[in-house]
Amino acid sequence: MSDFANQWLIEQLRQAPRNTTQLWLADENTLGDIELIAACGHQLRFISNRCDVDAGLRALNLDCTFNDFDFAGIENNSLDCVYYRVSKEKPVVHHIANQCFEKLKAGGKLLISGQKNEGIKTYFSKIKNLLGGDAKLEKNGLIYTGFVSKSETREQAREEQYLDAQQYTTLRPIAETVSGEQSIAIHSKPGVFGWNKIDQGSQFLWAELPEILANLNRPPKSLLDLGCGYGYLSLMSKGYEFDKHWATDNNAAAVRAASHNFELNDMDVTVLADDCGTSIGEKFDLILCNPPFHQGFSIDGDLTTKFLRNTHARLNPGGTAVFVVNQFIPLERKAQKLFKQVKLAADNGSFKLIRLTR
Ligand SMILES: C[S@@+](CC[C@H](N)C(=O)[O-])C[C@H]1O[C@@H](n2cnc3c(N)ncnc32)[C@H](O)[C@@H]1O
Repeated sequence: MSDFANQWLIEQLRQAPRNTTQLWLADENTLGDIELIAACGHQLRFISNRCDVDAGLRALNLDCTFNDFDFAGIENNSLDCVYYRVSKEKPVVHHIANQCFEKLKAGGKLLISGQKNEGIKTYFSKIKNLLGGDAKLEKNGLIYTGFVSKSETREQAREEQYLDAQQYTTLRPIAETVSGEQSIAIHSKPGVFGWNKIDQGSQFLWAELPEILANLNRPPKSLLDLGCGYGYLSLMSKGYEFDKHWATDNNAAAVRAASHNFELNDMDVTVLADDCGTSIGEKFDLILCNPPFHQGFSIDGDLTTKFLRNTHARLNPGGTAVFVVNQFIPLERKAQKLFKQVKLAADNGSFKLIRLTR
């Protein structure tokens, strides 16, 4: 579904002069508008932190780089225009604004759009203070749209003019924990889902897992951690012996953090940037998943179904998947169409664990 805040950016892109150096920053909010952007026929480059968005753009022969909004490949003072529909997380927006100051030419423009409740007005005034040139923000229904130019004279910004991106690029310790006999160090960074805490649903899943595993006919020999984030569920499984252990996520920051954590904790886990398990050819005895239920800003039932379908496809016959979801997600109803057995394994009033058998 097309996003209103993107539509204005797409209109600006249509009208933009050709032969200028343009960059579109593509997070999950770009997903529904890839074809509209491509139809503008412009030579522009993209950075995306989502592998599904990256794949969609590349499929249309667009020039996209998949990374955690790492601008290192772009020369300083080289861009005429950046298109950005603001992201959900503040440190991501602040990081991107700071990078735009470095990468825009003098007189170059950052075009931004977003909703009031996403903080667009505050972002606009902070970015205006940093870039220092002409700026304008307008209200279009529920959406705010506008531009900020980089001052012709400002070659450097003062420390306090940069936006606080919470050291966006830096992985840092967020927890030390113990699982069985194993001590586990967890590092993370902004840009990863719930980056500075341990997810309560995942904690619940991990606490209940031994009982679920005890009821299986045989111990699982392989594990897939689907939507791994910084790798919590995999890290907690350190004491288990798996012949094959994979962890996947579609977010570049998550993939980077998970890879770092497995190395840090001396674990042999294959980490893959992947959309809901679609690109994995392998099958597994056990799949653990705490699926997202938001796509951009809206609750997305289709995404849950996509996770379930791929889980079914990636399970060995007789294999088991354990999903943890909020009470209000109708996972069982969706899963019943696919799995031989769908069982409520535990419920703590906030989260439920659903055991799925193929
Ligand atoms: C609720 S979080 C759980 C993270 C992690 N398993 C934990 O326990 O902390 C959901 C994760 O799914 C990832 N995700 C969202 N959409 C995805 C997709 N289409 N394919 C793969 N992973 C996705 C998010 O980036 C996020 O890391």
